[in-house]
Amino acid sequence: MNLITTAPRGTKDILPKEAYKFSLVENAIKKIASSFGYREIRTPVFEHTSLFKRSVGEETDVVQKEMYTFKDKGERLLTLRPEGTACIARAILENGLHNSTLPLKLFYLYSCYRYEKPQAGRYREFNQFGIECFGAKSATADAEIICLANEILNKLNINDVVLNINSIGCPNCREKYFKALSDYLNDKKENLCEDCKTRLKTNPMRVLDCKKINCKKIIENAPIMLDFLCEDCSEHFKNVKQILNNLGIKYNIDGKIVRGLDYYTKTVFEFIYNKNQEPLTICGGGRYDGLTQQLGGPDLPSLGFAFGLERLINVLEENDYFKDKSYEDCKIFIAYADQIAKNKVFSLVKELRANGVYAECDLNDKSLKAQLKYANKINAVYSMVLGEEEIKSNIAKLKNMKTKQTIDINIDEYFFNKFLNIINSGEN
Ligand code: HAM
Repeated sequence: MNLITTAPRGTKDILPKEAYKFSLVENAIKKIASSFGYREIRTPVFEHTSLFKRSVGEETDVVQKEMYTFKDKGERLLTLRPEGTACIARAILENGLHNSTLPLKLFYLYSCYRYEKPQAGRYREFNQFGIECFGAKSATADAEIICLANEILNKLNINDVVLNINSIGCPNCREKYFKALSDYLNDKKENLCEDCKTRLKTNPMRVLDCKKINCKKIIENAPIMLDFLCEDCSEHFKNVKQILNNLGIKYNIDGKIVRGLDYYTKTVFEFIYNKNQEPLTICGGGRYDGLTQQLGGPDLPSLGFAFGLERLINVLEENDYFKDKSYEDCKIFIAYADQIAKNKVFSLVKELRANGVYAECDLNDKSLKAQLKYANKINAVYSMVLGEEEIKSNIAKLKNMKTKQTIDINIDEYFFNKFLNIINSGEN
């Protein structure tokens, strides 16, 4: 039988040399989100396809081209989540979480699935860290989530990032805007791509998100939503900017941001890493006041954002973030010189591990020489050899593998405490 040796296109294995970086970053981010009052939520990896059609939007690239959709054996139409927001909104409505104290603040670490053309920073399976805040309508909430994303970037020492913000209004002000945008685009319809010709009929704002060169040229001079905001949306955006100014958070206003998902209203924003030639969006989000109603729930003004974790880790790697943050080294390797000592070795290792110390011993019936070679290979900080003599006297030699110095240590039941004292005092 042939070996199956390649992962599906657009997916990648996260090997130990990278996986620890994910854990490190995830833990750091979780801590920051917790300090803003966010609690973790987990939901299924697949949902009813209709959830994404209704929330992300029928006309979006995500729904039209990128979803992993399949029928299960019960003929249900299901989709691997392409993003988290719709899933969380569904979960809070189904479980009645919105009936508790609001705002409801939730975070998640999710794998997401989009059938996109794989390239640097773009995968078919990728991971997001996202937050969603349900039941918060004031501009302070918009500023707070932007502040949280900003704090994450600060704590991770990422500097070459710009924050772009925009307001894409509400259904009220959109009516006038859609008319102006449609008039403008209709005039240039012949030069739009086939997809955009359809979008023009169904949701002209989606044209603004097109990446094709001809469409991009046309979009450059298109009217922008900011010029059509109703009084309420205009006031809201003014307040968001004011609070960001007060917090000293720098931003650019980019009237062209529409985001690739249909549920957004009012504030939308993106954090762009721009150190390289090709700018990279590492975080995107905004307000989605109509989403819970769209899904059949009550009116719950809400908002959130998501970081792409692979992109974030790539940026951190580029900035040497992990330089001094390697795996934990093995603290001690205990070898046996003869079979009599084998049980004692294992019980000492067991005790060390039970107390949280990374300790190792041989699992392959190796010779003493080979055991010590292995201790060297895994960069053990200390090594110790037990044989008949050590078992009899209860004293062994603890060797610092770097300095090669040895120190006598009692291997009785207090061994663990004595070993910790030595590590902590740097005595040896
Ligand atoms: P999004 O902009 O589609 O928004 O994705 C958020 C982030 O996920 C992007 O900024 C990017 O860093 C990362 N990302 C997206 N697609 C890929 C991909 N194919 N490969 C690698 N990384 C990717 C959302 O998903 C919204 N649900 C965010 C949100 C939460 N809005 C409100 N709440």
